[in-house]
Amino acid sequence: MGWWKESIDIVKKNDPAARSSLEIILTYPGVKALAAHRISHFLWKHGLKLLARMHSQFWRFWTQIEIHPGAEIAEGVFIDHGSGLVIGETAIVEKGVMLYHGVTLGGTGKDVGKRHPTVREGALVSAHAQVIGPIEIGKNSKVGAAAVVVSDVPADVTVVGVPAKVVRVHGKKDENAIHDLEEHREYYTSKLEEARYQSLHSSKL
Ligand SMILES: CC(C)(COP(=O)(O)OP(=O)(O)OC[C@H]1O[C@@H](n2cnc3c(N)ncnc32)[C@H](O)[C@@H]1OP(=O)(O)O)[C@@H](O)C(=O)NCCC(=O)NCCS
Repeated sequence: MGWWKESIDIVKKNDPAARSSLEIILTYPGVKALAAHRISHFLWKHGLKLLARMHSQFWRFWTQIEIHPGAEIAEGVFIDHGSGLVIGETAIVEKGVMLYHGVTLGGTGKDVGKRHPTVREGALVSAHAQVIGPIEIGKNSKVGAAAVVVSDVPADVTVVGVPAKVVRVHGKKDENAIHDLEEHREYYTSKLEEARYQSLHSSKL
């Protein structure tokens, strides 16, 4: 019962509208989708890949939440509302993460292998945010509604906009810290782009 308890507790903790455990089990599509994903993921891990995909598509129909069976999702994750949410095959979502409707944890179409995001413990990804590529959303960070995130987000910051930029560090509008973090993000993004280009180029030789 550990998984169910964690899933119900995080809803109660974060949604003042939730009144009872029974109501949460019966009326929260995110809880149903995550429970179904545990089965799809089990099937996927045991080589029953087609069955796993069919199972996840069945639950996509009922919940409007599409989670690829390969995605690794920890206990105690909260999907609120959920419709239109998509989680890709190599995504990793850690404990305590909150995801809203319309969120994509997707690929760029250019990467191979690990090509979807990793969302670290306690992070919040707001409604309709698009998190694209094998990037990381740091522990306890917040991604604003409708942001498009294409590079790593450090821990404990808030990012907003398109492309998403840091606007708060440890909850504060500290202009110097924001500037330093953004400089590092740009540096690592350009290095990553270079490395991707090189590997694409060498694989075509
Ligand atoms: C980003 C968010 C999580 C707030 O995080 P926060 O750390 O408390 O940040 P703040 O509210 O202090 O906002 C920081 C700055 O970003 C701006 N901002 C906040 N959300 C934004 C967004 N989605 N897009 C663009 N700018 C945004 C604020 O106006 C503020 O600007 P300023 O620096 O000029 O003052 C929140 O604004 C948000 O987007 N929540 C949506 C949650 C959601 O999906 N709800 C759906 C429920 S059904």
